[in-house]
Amino acid sequence: EKGGYDSFMAKEIDEQPQAVADTLLGRHTENGDLTLDEVRLTDQDLRDVDKVFIVACGTSFHTGMVAKYAIEHWTRIPCEVELASEFRYRDPVLDRSTLVVAISQSGETMDTLMALRHAKEQKARVLAICNTNGSTIPRESDAVLYTHCGPEIAVASTKAFLTQLVACYLVGLHLAQVRGVMYADEVGAVLAQLSEMPAKIQTVLDAMEPVRELARDLADAKSVLFIGRHVGYPVALEGALKLKELAYMHAEGFAAGELKHGPIALIDEGTPVVCVVPSARGRGVLNDKIVSNIQEVRARGARTIVIAEEGDDAVAPYADHLIYVPRTPTLLAPLVTTVPLQVMAGEIATARGNDVDQPRNLAKSVTVE
Ligand code: F6R
Repeated sequence: EKGGYDSFMAKEIDEQPQAVADTLLGRHTENGDLTLDEVRLTDQDLRDVDKVFIVACGTSFHTGMVAKYAIEHWTRIPCEVELASEFRYRDPVLDRSTLVVAISQSGETMDTLMALRHAKEQKARVLAICNTNGSTIPRESDAVLYTHCGPEIAVASTKAFLTQLVACYLVGLHLAQVRGVMYADEVGAVLAQLSEMPAKIQTVLDAMEPVRELARDLADAKSVLFIGRHVGYPVALEGALKLKELAYMHAEGFAAGELKHGPIALIDEGTPVVCVVPSARGRGVLNDKIVSNIQEVRARGARTIVIAEEGDDAVAPYADHLIYVPRTPTLLAPLVTTVPLQVMAGEIATARGNDVDQPRNLAKSVTVE
């Protein structure tokens, strides 16, 4: 059932173009309206939303971090992201005009379920983004948007992450549309960009051999750091999480701008630092900023592994290893920049002799708080 792959994870990584395409499928009607499944919330309910809270754990939390950038940018509604395990214990401010988005691949994560129940007690509306039909979290939500990536068997989440991102983009666009913040043609333009993503993800997957080679070379590193800005920041966190859980290595992700406030002291001769560079276009300032962050770490001896857009020449002089991904609008870039980090973590884990599908101490679905 692994279909010729060494692991379910390798198979699931390769399924990502199809999974993204399937999650997008059938989401818009002829007149350009977005349709979500099982939305038991009226457009009026959605127009009344004055705050969005995203709650999730682990990789799904990283989806939420990316979603915040997109949702605030498109809808102009304030959006907070919080770890589900922290959310309900700090008395968050919620009411009936708050939309709580619970993201969970399994639909059974106890921390996320408890956060959802807390939100409902406070009369907030709850929308679930979930991959498992009929699981507890969607059953207890007011609305559900299913990710259509098929069962994810490997413990480490890969294709679920990418499809959750797509689902969050769709929610953001839907909210923007019903509230009249974006016109149908603007929404249509983003949907057209989204529809190009499966092919771009495939392009990344087709170019992974040098990443695998590099990964084998990194297998003995003491620690690997990941830095990113804007949506590259949650991608850096996700890259570090994949490496921790699969390779059992010390790995940490940082917002690149925070480095100089402490973490840069960790950098030693040869420390691998993976740098996730945002789009070279549109966000020029951001690009300049991270280029200077990369220079800073390199000047302190780091071995820099840079994930950048094709044609981004500014970073090349500071990259010991340069991994190009296709040009993509900034907000959608995590759909391509995450993929090399998944492949790298899987390969390092394999080189270290670990079971990539069943990492030690972990379970696929965490049903205790
Ligand atoms: C990491 C991973 C976990 C899950 C987390 C939430 O690869 O798989 O961090 O993302 O346990 O699980 P779900 O999405 O099922 O609620």
